[in-house]
Amino acid sequence: MRSSNKVLAALLGTAFARPSPADSGDPIRILPYSWQYEITALEGPGCPDFNSMEAYSTRPTFGSNTVDGSEIYYWHFAYPHIHLTVDGDNTPEASIWCETTLKYVELTKTGAPPEVPGYRLRLHKNGTSMIADYGLDEGVEATWTFTYDTDGKGKITDTITVSGPRAPGTYTDISPSASPAGKTVQYPLPECGVGTIKYRTELTVKATKKGAKGTVASEGVERDGRAQFYGIQQGVSYDWERCAA
Ligand SMILES: *[C@@H]1O[C@H](CO)[C@@H](O)[C@H](O)[C@H]1NC(C)=O
Repeated sequence: MRSSNKVLAALLGTAFARPSPADSGDPIRILPYSWQYEITALEGPGCPDFNSMEAYSTRPTFGSNTVDGSEIYYWHFAYPHIHLTVDGDNTPEASIWCETTLKYVELTKTGAPPEVPGYRLRLHKNGTSMIADYGLDEGVEATWTFTYDTDGKGKITDTITVSGPRAPGTYTDISPSASPAGKTVQYPLPECGVGTIKYRTELTVKATKKGAKGTVASEGVERDGRAQFYGIQQGVSYDWERCAA
């Protein structure tokens, strides 16, 4: 399960996390026994499938985290309906968006929320990451914009820009957003143990040259004889602080 300094847990269907306990000698880690994310609302053309029974619907996918003391946690959310193609001659610009509302909950060993929550989630530990596949000619630029709500305390925005030429076929392409290390603004959730997280994901692709083409999508998958998208995957970062007992 451990590759370099990351623990990757690929879990299907539900986002339920339980990293292995730190080895003795490892840095001290601050995290609840377990936690869970559930999508409670979706809005926008990039996610028309709330409560869909499709295997490749808009959904939580997997968590990852560092174990080197930096305490960077990510949970990934897949968006199969977010994909765009532009063509400098006919459709030089296109965009698509989705607004996601998540319910976060801390869990104990029994799988239930604790009577007294032990931890407060702090959103946006290390910006936003994106796993997607880019096929961009020279003169085509793709821009991701991620905007997180912070309960009336302003918004947190991350962007990722990918410029052509870039060859398709590398769905392992992970881009971090460009907030400089150490300057990341975090949003501690108002309550310990539970919370609502809301963010907007937007993709814009522009071709500035005649004849230039570009596609941003995810890996293709086949299910029940139909070609589908696995979904581009947004990595939402966070960590925790202890709550006063
Ligand atoms: C944290 O973000 C930076 C970019 O700001 C990125 O280079 C780094 O890989 C990220 N860390 C992890 C663990 O993903």
